[in-house]
Amino acid sequence: MLKFVFTKTARYPGLEVEHYQILRNLRTLLVNLKYRGPIMTFLGLAANFCARAKIPLLQEYRFNKQNLRESGLDTDGIVETAVMDIPDEVRASACRYEAASDYEFRHVLERLHVDYPAYHFVDYGSGKGAILAAAARYPFKSVTGVEISGALHQTAMRNIAEMKQRHMIRAGALTSVHGDAASYSLPNAPHVIYVYNSFGPEVLQKVLDRISEDLRDIEEPVYFLYNNPMHHNVLEKSQEFHRMSKSFGGKWLVFIRLSNSDILRKTG
Ligand SMILES: C[S@@+](CC[C@H](N)C(=O)[O-])C[C@H]1O[C@@H](n2cnc3c(N)ncnc32)[C@H](O)[C@@H]1O
Repeated sequence: MLKFVFTKTARYPGLEVEHYQILRNLRTLLVNLKYRGPIMTFLGLAANFCARAKIPLLQEYRFNKQNLRESGLDTDGIVETAVMDIPDEVRASACRYEAASDYEFRHVLERLHVDYPAYHFVDYGSGKGAILAAAARYPFKSVTGVEISGALHQTAMRNIAEMKQRHMIRAGALTSVHGDAASYSLPNAPHVIYVYNSFGPEVLQKVLDRISEDLRDIEEPVYFLYNNPMHHNVLEKSQEFHRMSKSFGGKWLVFIRLSNSDILRKTG
């Protein structure tokens, strides 16, 4: 037990962020308390206990089920790439669908203190739209998801319609686009970018190149939130993006692209 609690883990190849299991668990607890409140957090703890004891009770309250029960949206499940309706040439680089925790996402986003109305938000590989739903709670200029699977995109569209009907949206616009992240163009405006390990390094590089090209005249900082950063090296070696020194937790890295004038100021 003590060994489990005090074991250090470094999950990603070449990433020197190590963290203790106990710190990860504490963080999950705090994030759940912040966004779910004490009752749901207590149910989450009870559910985790039941799972460990192999008692089939309360499983829909488990922390890794995010807020599926609370939001009522259809974002659940895992869809493997082998059964996805995607072109064969992108299948090898694509990662399976699985929704991220919207509580963790909100915790990271809020720590950036972004001026939401001045920013667009884009999720590359948005799946059924779990994080689109979370981002749309903030008054971004727009929230857009780009998803390669037509079936997942259709589910996202149904979720968006449901959110509109239930007045769950604070963002200026909310939409899911069916297409390849590598060929998606951004409007020439400040952006918060989000990726949950959606694809391999080649596609990630193409996405970064497009961001550089499309946002080259933007003066405001551009943020890149990388959840489960399996290919963090692509960003580490980029000339433009720099890893923020603030720690966001073991599964998250946040990169920032400074404006041209800030870069000039820094380099003297
Ligand atoms: C791990 S899921 C992330 C889902 C969502 N962003 C979240 O955080 O809950 C990765 C998604 O990326 C999509 N994807 C993979 N390659 C893609 C590409 N080239 N263009 C757009 N979407 C892609 C997959 O279909 C899958 O839905």
